[in-house]
Amino acid sequence: MLRDAWNTHADEWISWARTPGHDSYWRFHRDAFLPLVPSPGRLTLDVGCGEGRLGRDLARIGHRVVGVDSSLTMVSAAVTHADAGGPAVVADAAALPMPDAVADCVVAFMSLQDVDAMEAALAEVARVLFVGGRLVMAITHPLNTAGRFLPGPVEAERPFVVEGSWFERRAIADTCERDGHCMTFHSEHRPLHDYTDALSSAGFVIERIHEVGDSDPNSKWSRLPLFLHLRAVLFAPAPDASNRD
Ligand SMILES: C[S@@+](CC[C@H](N)C(=O)[O-])C[C@H]1O[C@@H](n2cnc3c(N)ncnc32)[C@H](O)[C@@H]1O
Repeated sequence: MLRDAWNTHADEWISWARTPGHDSYWRFHRDAFLPLVPSPGRLTLDVGCGEGRLGRDLARIGHRVVGVDSSLTMVSAAVTHADAGGPAVVADAAALPMPDAVADCVVAFMSLQDVDAMEAALAEVARVLFVGGRLVMAITHPLNTAGRFLPGPVEAERPFVVEGSWFERRAIADTCERDGHCMTFHSEHRPLHDYTDALSSAGFVIERIHEVGDSDPNSKWSRLPLFLHLRAVLFAPAPDASNRD
């Protein structure tokens, strides 16, 4: 399971994520993602909080944050950080240990592509939000996981090929080594409509989509999206699972 793979690699992730400037968080995400997050309200849940960096940034701008992650190692790192953003609990995103309608904002930052039961997790996010509450999420862009760049003489012009079927879900294990850090990212390639269908089934309406590429014109990722940021508003509570056909 993806959840177990992330727990196995938790220590590698913590040193990868805590090395300043090392991860994509600083270069690609933070300044684009934080403005999508609504102003602080009663409670912001950080689903798949990892070692807690986003919760720390949100707490600094006034959010009351509770983190949730399935990995005990991640949650321990989040709550013992000197500048911890708030409490955190060990739980699966598909079974959040919170009552209905407790939060006005949920962030799921670079976690839903790593969650086994993504649809169930989005239904849980809808359950714990007030109607009118927002989900702000970031995922690896499905185009990124659908294929790879072929070699080419000019980095920014390398052709990109889609391997297999865009529409088929498949497990991805991507090992990256950089500046003395090694990390294996376990996720699932899913077509974009898997996310939008799950959001709509859970009662969400999408407000904003931002496709994140590289602003460096010499990068191969200047032509294609690396990540997807999305904000959705809960329009209607998710139907009770027991009432579904
Ligand atoms: C790429 S990390 C992102 C962590 C954090 N949001 C950040 O960017 O710093 C993905 C996180 O999702 C967590 N995760 C994976 N499956 C999960 C599940 N089923 N329920 C809750 N968390 C899960 C992993 O343990 C990991 O901490």
